Amino acid sequence: MEYEHKPVLLAEALHYLRIRSGSTVVDCTLGGAGHAEAILDLLGSDGVLVGIDKDDAALKAARARLAGFSQQIKFMKGGFEKLDRLLPKAGVLEVDAFLFDLGVSSYQFDRPERGFSYRFEAPLDMRMDLSQKLTAADVVNGYSEKELAGVIRRYGEERWASKIAGLIVRTRQKRPIKTTFDLVAVVKDAVPAPARRRGGHPAKRTFQAIRIEVNGELEAVEAGLSRSINWLKPGGRVVVISYHSLEDRIVKRTFADLARGCLCPPELPVCICGKRPMVKILTKKAVRPTDEELRANPRASSARLRAAEKVGD
Ligand SMILES: C[S@@+](CC[C@H](N)C(=O)[O-])C[C@H]1O[C@@H](n2cnc3c(N)ncnc32)[C@H](O)[C@@H]1O
Repeated sequence: MEYEHKPVLLAEALHYLRIRSGSTVVDCTLGGAGHAEAILDLLGSDGVLVGIDKDDAALKAARARLAGFSQQIKFMKGGFEKLDRLLPKAGVLEVDAFLFDLGVSSYQFDRPERGFSYRFEAPLDMRMDLSQKLTAADVVNGYSEKELAGVIRRYGEERWASKIAGLIVRTRQKRPIKTTFDLVAVVKDAVPAPARRRGGHPAKRTFQAIRIEVNGELEAVEAGLSRSINWLKPGGRVVVISYHSLEDRIVKRTFADLARGCLCPPELPVCICGKRPMVKILTKKAVRPTDEELRANPRASSARLRAAEKVGD
């Protein structure tokens, strides 16, 4: 299968990234390189794009797609939460713009053997980085009932989390839960019939939760976003596209924290905390895809974009 991923909110991302010729831009989630290709077109021959991804398959596909830009691009394998390690390795001193297009790519979802999808039978894997040890099978077969219920409730916002965790534990006492369809069957049995018929596939929220846990996705967003600000030049921008409310809440809160100035109690006559706003928020409300984009790419339906600009010293 081709590595296909239609870049989501592309025009809106380019607008907020404000790419100028000769800039240094970091795409923290290179994926199929749809956004990266459009950014490179705007960067010109003296600009630099650092493309980061945890997934070797994404990096391989991106290298092929971006072969014509080999002078301007540096590929880095790793988690964007480790920006402080990756950017010095790439020889970067300061950054004009960061893009985070979070989560899993369509390619990762659509490759049955990666185990991300409840639609295909495959081993329970769900790792973005195949050199990582922890797999979905480890979570499902190794976590305690309480831990599983917590993960499914927190990251899947699943109201039947306790029932699902309970049945996972009872099932695995008889035999390990090895495949995606084994897990789908357990979830279907745990969720009461009327609830099963509402709100999409019954295993959707459990799969999302386990994937987030396996890849440490939410911790990575918080760490990567906060670190990115320290690398931005004054006037530099960060753009984040998220796909579910848990991610979007973290983005919104992190930007709000960074945009806040003095934290002293109002009764103090002068500021003693010295905290200054680090960013100005550019998107009061999250930007959503247009109807036209949704018709062309239904997978964009949950996308929300937020952007911020680093304020001068
Ligand atoms: C939604 S896709 C990006 C698609 C890309 N913008 C495009 O136009 O094709 C997200 C990508 O980010 C990668 N990813 C997710 N979390 C990551 C992290 N913490 N560090 C590095 N890469 C990550 C995934 O492996 C996936 O390839």
